[in-house]
Amino acid sequence: MNQDWNERFLNDFEALSANGATSGGGVERQAASGGDLKNRQWFEELLKELGATVTYDEIGNQFGLFEFDPALPFVGLGSHLDSQPLAGRYDGAYGVLAGAHAAARLAERINSTGEKPLRNLVVINWFNEEGSRFAPSMMGSSVFSGKLELQTALQSTDLAGTTVKEAIAQAAWGPVKTAPEISEYAEIHVEQGKELEKSGNQIGLVTATWGARKFQLTVKGEQGHTGSTLMADRKDALFGASLVIASVRRLTDNYQPGELQASVSQLTLEPNSPVTIAREVKFNVDLRSPSSEVLESAQQELDSIILAAEDESKTSILKEQTHHWDLNPYPRDGVELSRQVVEELGISHQEIFTVAGHDSTNMKDLVSTVMLFVPSKDGISHNEAEYTSPEDCLAGVKVFTEVAAKLIFS
Ligand code: GLV
Ligand code: MN
Ligand code: MN
Repeated sequence: MNQDWNERFLNDFEALSANGATSGGGVERQAASGGDLKNRQWFEELLKELGATVTYDEIGNQFGLFEFDPALPFVGLGSHLDSQPLAGRYDGAYGVLAGAHAAARLAERINSTGEKPLRNLVVINWFNEEGSRFAPSMMGSSVFSGKLELQTALQSTDLAGTTVKEAIAQAAWGPVKTAPEISEYAEIHVEQGKELEKSGNQIGLVTATWGARKFQLTVKGEQGHTGSTLMADRKDALFGASLVIASVRRLTDNYQPGELQASVSQLTLEPNSPVTIAREVKFNVDLRSPSSEVLESAQQELDSIILAAEDESKTSILKEQTHHWDLNPYPRDGVELSRQVVEELGISHQEIFTVAGHDSTNMKDLVSTVMLFVPSKDGISHNEAEYTSPEDCLAGVKVFTEVAAKLIFS
């Protein structure tokens, strides 16, 4: 049976990866866009085939319920099926499919042995984890865990002005029901780093997350003619933005490697016309660190960078914090439970930090949570070349199934 399940996992993963597939071997499934809609429909059918009942909540989280006893709460097994633009196949999707297979394997075990679980299982595809189309990221799990107001999330817009509310209404996912009560949560994800590959270990037991601070900066200048406006008269928003952008990158030079990651991403400019000086530029600044002190001091340095850029470019720059999470441990009981599983299965493992945010980043503050990693080739992620070997994928599903077993039987 195990052999069949393994084969089926790899086949299902191939089928899943065909939804929103790109010519470069990746996927494009931004939240509630064409690729995501197709993939969610495909996943709903798979869940039903595996024996689950499928429901949604108001923020578009997709639940596959394996209810063994209506009186019991649920263990959640989740991640996300949405992707960045031109993304890899594994980020999020691997964990959602692993959750579906783990739940189906356990349902089969319960059916054949008559063992009585103490929990039900729910497979969760969290809405808009990536935050590429609608900010902030980790949206579905943020609303579920009470960190983000539903109404605030529904008002978030993409670059074309479409709100989350409109996108969800158009998708018409249903039935919409009250979200299940979750008592424990587990997630498995590709590492998106090089630690496991370097050590040769197959499983990472995530013990803590780096802290993150994300901001939207708006540089306000004055529109004018690129040829005729005197240099002394210019209030060029793009020049102001460029001063900040280069300085944010150079900020990391003030710290040891591994102490600070600093990026500028998604940028828009108005009016974005060849012969016109930009009147307004918006962009995101993303700071990450495993040290609260470093994060705090980087944030202060960002404020100085902004002041200097305003002065030099004669613009004004507004800074709005759009998302943040603190450097935080994962619950120790979850780490120990998964350690016990990998030791029993004889699978090589190590403790590891997560640098990226995950839905479990939210869930760990709500319920006891397990977070596992499988290796990522060359640490590549948010890129079509993202890769995890079939052997590592299958080892992860095996471990994840046994973690879920411990959560529902003991
Ligand atoms: C995920 O949302 C991240 O920002 O790492
Ligand atoms: Mn992810
Ligand atoms: Mn991602």
